[in-house]
Amino acid sequence: MDYQTIIYEIKENVGWITLNRPDVLNAQNDTVRKELTDAVNKAKVDDNVRVLVITGAGDKAFSAGADITMFPSMTSAAAIDMFKGEKRAVQTIRELLKPVVAMVNGLALGGGCELAMACDIIIATEDAKFGQPEINVGIIPGGGGSQILTRLVGEKKAKELIMTGGFLSAQEALGLGLVNKIVPRNELKPTVEKIVNKIKSKSPVILKLGKIAVNKALETSLSVGLESEKELFAMCFGTKDQKEGANAFLEKRKPDFTGE
Ligand code: COA
Repeated sequence: MDYQTIIYEIKENVGWITLNRPDVLNAQNDTVRKELTDAVNKAKVDDNVRVLVITGAGDKAFSAGADITMFPSMTSAAAIDMFKGEKRAVQTIRELLKPVVAMVNGLALGGGCELAMACDIIIATEDAKFGQPEINVGIIPGGGGSQILTRLVGEKKAKELIMTGGFLSAQEALGLGLVNKIVPRNELKPTVEKIVNKIKSKSPVILKLGKIAVNKALETSLSVGLESEKELFAMCFGTKDQKEGANAFLEKRKPDFTGE
């Protein structure tokens, strides 16, 4: 698939997806949604890609959400059809068993906030803003916002954001645990690269088990989650990388993980 609205590049085992509609603040239309899902699915089956980074083109926005030009003529049936037979991009990202970092270079609103939240780690510029302003255009979040935001920041703050359509500053988002780190704009890419390089040095198979374990915590009761962790923990011991990690430590050398 040739992409018109995103850029997908692979550099040194990292897949970089850039939403590329800066003139409309990287608003997500149907094409963006399809291309984004396609690129994530490509990364999924590509052993060359160890970590994925998602960002937006330009210096103003990560993404200002769904493309509102689609909405005046949209019917309920069309809204259902939007997701028929396929997973939403945010679900595909959440279920991708590789680490995904959101490099938030500005506004992350509506579907932009949802996209960032679907990633495992969020690094943002100090002037970034987060919010679910769908209420301003007469809808509610449709990309997981009501569910994931509530789990991340709690019921009250989620309802405030969804009911007022207000924005959070990067500082507020950091305080609420919505983002991992905020940095000056010129430090955004180097900071992301540093984190990505650290993650890249770990075992892909153990990273996968870790992601499954943490995702489970948001989806099940504590007792089911703890049982699941026990199984995933035991699975580590069936891998070559677990032996390599322990032996490297004992032999006082760096581990050489192969993903097996
Ligand atoms: N869908 C379609 N176009 C959008 C868009 C969106 N979600 N968000 C921004 N744009 C377009 C604007 O229409 C404008 O296009 P134009 O230059 O052809 O007029 C361009 O992007 C720049 O946006 P503009 O509104 O001029 O920038 P601003 O700095 O004044 O305001 C925002 C920025 C983000 C506050 C404002 O654009 C906004 O509220 N966008 C909608 C956010 C939203 O509600 N998202 C959820 C959608 S369900």
